[in-house]
Amino acid sequence: MSDNGDIYYCSPVFRPPSEANSLLIQLTEGCTYKCDFCMSNLRKQFKVRDISKVKQDLDGARKQYGNNIRRIFFLDGNAMITPFKKLLEVTQYAYTLFPHLERCGVYAHSKDIIKKTDDQLKTLSDAGLKIAYVGFESGYNALLKNVHKHALKEDHIKAAKKLFKANITLSATLINGLGGANNPEISEKHAVESADLINNICPEDDRIWYIAFLSLMVPPGTEMFKRKQEGMFEEMSSEQILRELKIFIENIDFPNKKAKCVFRSNHASNYLPIKGILEKDKQKILETLEYALLHKEILRPEFYRGL
Ligand SMILES: C[S@@+](CC[C@H](N)C(=O)[O-])C[C@H]1O[C@@H](n2cnc3c(N)ncnc32)[C@H](O)[C@@H]1O
Ligand code: SF4
Repeated sequence: MSDNGDIYYCSPVFRPPSEANSLLIQLTEGCTYKCDFCMSNLRKQFKVRDISKVKQDLDGARKQYGNNIRRIFFLDGNAMITPFKKLLEVTQYAYTLFPHLERCGVYAHSKDIIKKTDDQLKTLSDAGLKIAYVGFESGYNALLKNVHKHALKEDHIKAAKKLFKANITLSATLINGLGGANNPEISEKHAVESADLINNICPEDDRIWYIAFLSLMVPPGTEMFKRKQEGMFEEMSSEQILRELKIFIENIDFPNKKAKCVFRSNHASNYLPIKGILEKDKQKILETLEYALLHKEILRPEFYRGL
């Protein structure tokens, strides 16, 4: 646990890379799920913090940083689980303190999006909860079950559609290499089913939405780390990772060719930084992957990778 002036944090905190410059507010601690690859809840007992304490932190931030805050991210691994009224109360309170606030964001597990009604999500969106970071990880149900994601492809589709309906921006992550090195069939299904998931959620309009691939890391303390030590799980090579990503991109076929899906695989865990708009840049991305497969010297070295 650590204290930063007037604002409380329970370390280590989890936030998306794109929220690095946002005001971080500890609304929840840890996560209610325990996915095999994730270290979000290893050292923390899950809780939704007392709302009066969260408001005190917002007051503290206003004193420390003034009223010019543009973005707030409500920690921690799955703050969407916060009961509707509490989430609404802190969001509304944040906007009363910071008149230039453009958005509040949260991490969200698909099941916890589904548990909120369309009206509740729309009310949150209207109040300023404008972006949700959702861990899809895969569209392949057998793999989702295997890593104890506690959500299936159909849950991800339902959750994404509910966010779009409420006008909350979707930023979803998938994990390259999640099935491990020894089963090419699983890798192919992971890539094909994940592309099918993304094709299925493609909105009919030209709003911006985000899909990112991370590459699997196996942090100590996780279930996957145990499996690796017992010789039951082997990580993919960089070449296998790129081939898997290539199959994913090849299978992207949006019903709406004008869709604006910002695709990224430029996280620190990735071997090759890629950025583009799907489906417009599909060919360019495939060429980049082909090039990297022939010139492995351009890939990020193993020791520079991280979460
Ligand atoms: C802190 S989690 C929060 C996501 C949200 N709780 C959910 O499950 O929908 C953020 C994302 O980081 C990615 N991630 C977590 N651990 C990872 C690992 N060991 N290797 C690669 N990516 C990982 C996953 O995509 C995960 O959904
Ligand atoms: S991936 Fe998300 S739901 Fe799973 S343990 Fe991590 S934070 Fe929780």
